[in-house]
Amino acid sequence: SIIVPSVQEMVKEKMIKTVPQRYIRSDLDKTEITDDSGPRTEIPIIDLNLLCSSTSMTSEIDKLDLACKEWGFFQANSKFLDKVKSEIQDHFNLPMEEKKKLWQQPGEIEGFGQSFVVSEEQKLDWSDMFYLTMQPVLSRKPHLFPKLPLPFRDTLERYSTEVKSVAKILLGNMARALKIKPEEILEELFDDKLGQKLRMNYYPPCPEPDQVIGVTPHSDATGLTILLQVNEVEGLQIKKDGKWVTVKPLPNAFVVNIGDMLEIITNGTYKSIEHRGVVNSEKERISVAAFHNMGMGKVVGPLRSLVERQKGALFRSVTIEEFLKVLFSRELDGKAFLDVW
Ligand code: SIN
Ligand code: FE2
Repeated sequence: SIIVPSVQEMVKEKMIKTVPQRYIRSDLDKTEITDDSGPRTEIPIIDLNLLCSSTSMTSEIDKLDLACKEWGFFQANSKFLDKVKSEIQDHFNLPMEEKKKLWQQPGEIEGFGQSFVVSEEQKLDWSDMFYLTMQPVLSRKPHLFPKLPLPFRDTLERYSTEVKSVAKILLGNMARALKIKPEEILEELFDDKLGQKLRMNYYPPCPEPDQVIGVTPHSDATGLTILLQVNEVEGLQIKKDGKWVTVKPLPNAFVVNIGDMLEIITNGTYKSIEHRGVVNSEKERISVAAFHNMGMGKVVGPLRSLVERQKGALFRSVTIEEFLKVLFSRELDGKAFLDVW
């Protein structure tokens, strides 16, 4: 990654009235920024309590199945610590001198900064992020996680475990819906090698919100993403039937989406949907995404049982290392990543 300035700092310190060129998205189709002609429909809502028991309700599994096929996104109720929200907020409000110690170094992905910046000419998103590996524990960067204050570390640790268990419940029920053994999905995606990364996002208000984008349209390259809209300000939009649909922040809900890896594993049955983040002129917006990835050494490819049933593989199989190499050498660009697969 290339080192980028803090957008939060720029807005706070300089009290800018116009947006610097580097953030003006003339590279995007105008509809990629302003078009919100989409229907005001809500994405599906899944009741996690009905999926938790060993005898999950069939009707709820059907709902989950439909959500994964037709939307690639749904909301799920959650119980989690309010502390997560306030401590993530505090983390972005640290003094710049403190944040600088946690800033991305050249070529690094983790820390404060932006992802997918591969050239100095490239347009930038109107946001700062803080990106952090949580699992496997041995992959945590020694200069990041251990340097966070203990209460925050403790909260993140508990959040990581909580979200991981939600991911496991959801994947197990997806397997039931797909009529495959839960182990088939869990062994691919969710064994002790499971990778879990947290990406905390901070979107400052913008004096010209129609000129910028908070997050470039993209699909997630991961297996399963579980997102928390920390301060309940709108901004996430997903592409549904060619239109952008706003995902309303619900109190105490996760937004869950299928990533490219899970689309590949399910041989295209479940869809990894393009989405973006828009910003507004008044309110900051904060979110945290937990990405669940296949572990190192795995092969990203369609499950054999699904290939047999569907009489053919829609995607080639590659090592996770190759998958990630291709991913991080590119700018974000809608669903283009999966399209070349
Ligand atoms: C993302 O998809 O990368 C960010 C989503 C959000 O902030 O809501
Ligand atoms: Fe995303």
